[in-house]
Amino acid sequence: MKHRTYCGALNASHDGELVSLAGWVQRVRDLGGLAFFDLRDHTGLVQVTPDPHTPDLREIVAGLRHEDVLEVRGVVRRRPAGSENPRMATGEVEISATSVVVLSPAKTPPFLPEEADKVQEDLRLKHRVLHLRSERMQRNFRLRHRLYQAVRRHFDEHGFIEIETPFLVKPTPEGARDFLVPSRLHAGRAYALPQSPQIYKQLLMVAGFDRYFQIVKCFRDEDLRADRQPEFTQIDVELSFTDEAEVQEIMEGLMARLFHELLGLEIPTPFERIPYEQALALYGSDKPDLRIPLQIVDLTTVFAGSEFRVFSEVLAAGGVIRGLRLPGVASWSRKQRDDLVEKARGWGLSGLVYVMAGPEGITSPSAKYLTPDQMQETADALGLQHGDIGALAADADKSTVAAGLGQLRLWAGRELGLVEKGAFRHCWIVDFPMLEYNPDQGRYEAAHHPFTSPVLADLERFPDQPEKIRARAYDLVLNGNEIAGGSIRIHQREVQRRVFELLGFSPEEAQAKFGFLLEALEMGAPPHGGIAFGLDRMAMLMVGAESIRDVIAFPKTTAAISLMDGSPAPTPADQWADLHLKPLKQGE
Ligand code: AMO
Repeated sequence: MKHRTYCGALNASHDGELVSLAGWVQRVRDLGGLAFFDLRDHTGLVQVTPDPHTPDLREIVAGLRHEDVLEVRGVVRRRPAGSENPRMATGEVEISATSVVVLSPAKTPPFLPEEADKVQEDLRLKHRVLHLRSERMQRNFRLRHRLYQAVRRHFDEHGFIEIETPFLVKPTPEGARDFLVPSRLHAGRAYALPQSPQIYKQLLMVAGFDRYFQIVKCFRDEDLRADRQPEFTQIDVELSFTDEAEVQEIMEGLMARLFHELLGLEIPTPFERIPYEQALALYGSDKPDLRIPLQIVDLTTVFAGSEFRVFSEVLAAGGVIRGLRLPGVASWSRKQRDDLVEKARGWGLSGLVYVMAGPEGITSPSAKYLTPDQMQETADALGLQHGDIGALAADADKSTVAAGLGQLRLWAGRELGLVEKGAFRHCWIVDFPMLEYNPDQGRYEAAHHPFTSPVLADLERFPDQPEKIRARAYDLVLNGNEIAGGSIRIHQREVQRRVFELLGFSPEEAQAKFGFLLEALEMGAPPHGGIAFGLDRMAMLMVGAESIRDVIAFPKTTAAISLMDGSPAPTPADQWADLHLKPLKQGE
């Protein structure tokens, strides 16, 4: 529509202007003889009243229904003094309409866009277009759009070029299952959808492109949660002749730019670098939420020689005792303390021992098992202030204590209102172990992916202790979410061979799966490294949403179903036959 004016742009300075608007009916009011309505487009709302000199309009307006699509012509009028609406951006004016044309009538919608957040999520997902019409969702996707543009500018200015990699690929392992696309032309063969462009971006480095990036869809068949979707978007990055410090600096620049350009916030850089082991010890997580001002403290030495059975058995088994300060809860009732112990059991801990800094000084419900010195040292080590409680956990397995107290820390952040509001706290997690033992498979797996370079000195030093080999990997964490992961890669054929060996691949298996990468590594591969951001997670955090479904236009449910289009869809037998397949019944 030529000469169209947008609803949200109107204000008193347009008084008297003739305008053409188009949009959806948000709300119709009929105050006995005086009918008017709000018209909504992607920029906002404006109130429309029929011009009193065009009487046939009154009937049209009175017959309007929510979500009808209209074209409206009329004159912008300042609202009479006293009838302005300060809650509406265009509340100083209204449109005195001389023409209202219904371009497309709407039947009664199952919910109104502005009320979408109050209805069940399943209904919202089924009628996704209605939810997307809401102001919040419109805002989310406009921010996401600006995110793409700022990312492209940033990498372009730093000498990166955008190259597309294929979607029908040989599997690229990232630890999830593949989505397979069976081949019609080649019976028994299948493409995989990429879990990431990892191998392809490495090949682009061998091909001499020097600096690559791509905003790209990735596909992973894994259990879904609020921050995971089966298809999601990465900002994928790779560069040659680089090291950890350079990759991290470029990404810190990107973060600072995004927060500045999109949210008007200044993010201090460089970000803190926290070694993996330290993150587990202090925060009980490799993705710590640094907005919570609490750290876990090791108390093992305080209780050396303790006769308290809960502690002595753990110490005899080589375990640890650690504690966390819970501010301002010393006045809790016994029931409140017991309830928290119950929660702690749910987090894998066998219980909690409390030490309190109350009106009677340092006390404990377990005082008869603890010496006054032990209680005092605990209070000092945890930094207990008057009114605080220290919660202690012990276990033979230090990762059980770390994970349990990590959950307690998150709980305390949430329930005691300790999370710093409106803050964005980034950190790098570094010095990851390269391998993780998978007890189910009875072998080691790559903690990141099999192309991550080990610290070469570790590879030499610990040929028989794979768990001690560190990876040259780094994750970027924001407010307790892993938003990016990357590493310096293996560029030497021999090192890649040794890593495959540690991972339990036979040379034949490695050749069959990754022969095309191994060959490229023999053709003059530059040292290289990179990173990939979860763009959806970034967008979610920037708009303050709880789920990445709020920043993905057409997401799947946690059961990997699209309620809107019904995919995955039942597929006719002849289509399966074309693919040389015959489906089994569920459970067959
Ligand atoms: P990684 O597997 O860590 O690394 O993925 C990078 C980032 O992608 C996001 N992410 C997801 N977001 C939504 N839904 C999912 N299912 C999902 N899975 C991952 C996370 C994560 O930090 N090729 C390597 C990167 C590299 O080494 O350069 C990779 O894919 O925010």
